Amino acid sequence: MNPFERASKAGAELVEQLGGGFDATVVLGSGWAEVAEGLGSVTGEVAAEAITGFHPPSVPGHGGTLQAVTVGDRRVLVLAGRVHLYEGHPPADVVHGVRAAVAAGCGTVVLTNAAGSLNPELEVGQPVLISDHINLTGQSPLSGPAPPDGYAIRFTDLTDLYSARIRDAVRQVDPSVGEGVYAGLVGPHFETPAEISMLARMGADLVGMSTVLEAIAVRHVGVEVAGVSLVTNAAAGMGGALDHQEVLHAGQAALSRVTDVLSTVIRVL
Ligand code: HPA
Repeated sequence: MNPFERASKAGAELVEQLGGGFDATVVLGSGWAEVAEGLGSVTGEVAAEAITGFHPPSVPGHGGTLQAVTVGDRRVLVLAGRVHLYEGHPPADVVHGVRAAVAAGCGTVVLTNAAGSLNPELEVGQPVLISDHINLTGQSPLSGPAPPDGYAIRFTDLTDLYSARIRDAVRQVDPSVGEGVYAGLVGPHFETPAEISMLARMGADLVGMSTVLEAIAVRHVGVEVAGVSLVTNAAAGMGGALDHQEVLHAGQAALSRVTDVLSTVIRVL
């Protein structure tokens, strides 16, 4: 089965298990796992591995459930249990969740992640809207055989990839939310200070190990994308030592702030 057919099968299964009518999907990153409960009422839940093409989680801090959550008058599909390139998964698997969510009818995709900050104005604990990205993974979800009939060609325009409309609307409600360019690397090691200084010169404000391939895949199918990073640490060489537990703790500490920002994003959609 090609990746597009597989995602469409998964989308149909999601609708069957959780009901349809989704307005948006939210992909939860490291440290965001507990946000779902605070967002609204959970009306349905299914284990990721029960749906075609989804993997069981392998990274602490990434729960593996797919939930239908009602937030105000919106129906949101919350995907916890993202898979990453650094786990050895190919790009098609990394973007399977968002393709399936679009196939299930989600009209907007909100990608969240944990990130290191290269910009002293973006502090630990702060949610930051992604304004653009630098894809340094060396990969694309659109490489390989051409998309099947009925899909756009693979030469996707990434101008205005992260919806300016959503960013403006969120900042109107909450001016304390930051904004910055996200550099996506493969990981799983953190960067060297020399790499961080290179990224800063390239124009990156944030650095992480996810999001960029998903954003590209979503734009390819013509769906609006928003990205929110939670700053969990100062980037290598700009603060103390780095470790994954610190990333998860920063997520916990900022739980109510990130929940508020995510609700705002959903309300302005
Ligand atoms: N680098 C890469 N990925 C990350 C970081 C970081 O400093 N913090 C959280 N995810």
